[in-house]
Amino acid sequence: MSWQDRILQPDTAVEQMKQKAALRALETIESGMKLGLGTGSTARYFVDGLGAKLTDGLSGIVCVPTSEATREQAENLNIKLAPLDELQRLDITVDGADELDDALRLIKGGGGALLREKIVAAASDKMIVIADDTKKVAVLGAFDLPVEVNMFAHGATARAIAGALKATGHSGAVKLRGGDTPFITDGGHYIYDCALKAINDPEALAQALLSVPGVVEHGLFLGYATAAILAGTDGLEEVGNL
Ligand code: A5P
Repeated sequence: MSWQDRILQPDTAVEQMKQKAALRALETIESGMKLGLGTGSTARYFVDGLGAKLTDGLSGIVCVPTSEATREQAENLNIKLAPLDELQRLDITVDGADELDDALRLIKGGGGALLREKIVAAASDKMIVIADDTKKVAVLGAFDLPVEVNMFAHGATARAIAGALKATGHSGAVKLRGGDTPFITDGGHYIYDCALKAINDPEALAQALLSVPGVVEHGLFLGYATAAILAGTDGLEEVGNL
């Protein structure tokens, strides 16, 4: 039985699409590669597939997980992991996205792993985004933009974030994820989700957010993705160079 036959097929159409995108990304993986493993429901299919492919001839793969959840999944599949500091550069990171536009600009962080995801993507020669095609948008921003902040005086940081949004022509609620029981990231930070509806100049907004003291990272991934595999009811669309 081939490794593909050993992978369970999900029940729903959308989950099947995510899995198809993940399996296409797996076709680009060769023995000896150093990989970044993304976080989220789509990246999960890639990690499952990688585990299966490793039992079928693929060898010498070393990976860096972008979250504790992905680390646990990879460890359970006996995927070899190493610290990014040891590997220094990675060949490919494969990760999901909450939104992407035509220029392969992304919003990420819906699952709260944006900081490690960005550090790992930045250390990768290629970043392949895998997603169902509902994630593709003309203008980023319908998905609330996650901003990871230090816990210290996070209310003051949130007010400064609102100021940065206003200064760049945006408006919308800035809400602490989890409310009274705040979500805590793997790095020990909080996340504020910004309901902007549309981001017309992502580069300007990214710069403004990073200038706020207390902001650790934001979910705009600009200039990281080199390709995307989008699965829809009519098949796969590939954008960029796989
Ligand atoms: C995790 O922090 C996120 O960046 C995910 O990669 C993103 O939310 C996509 O997740 P799904 O594949 O579950 O939609």
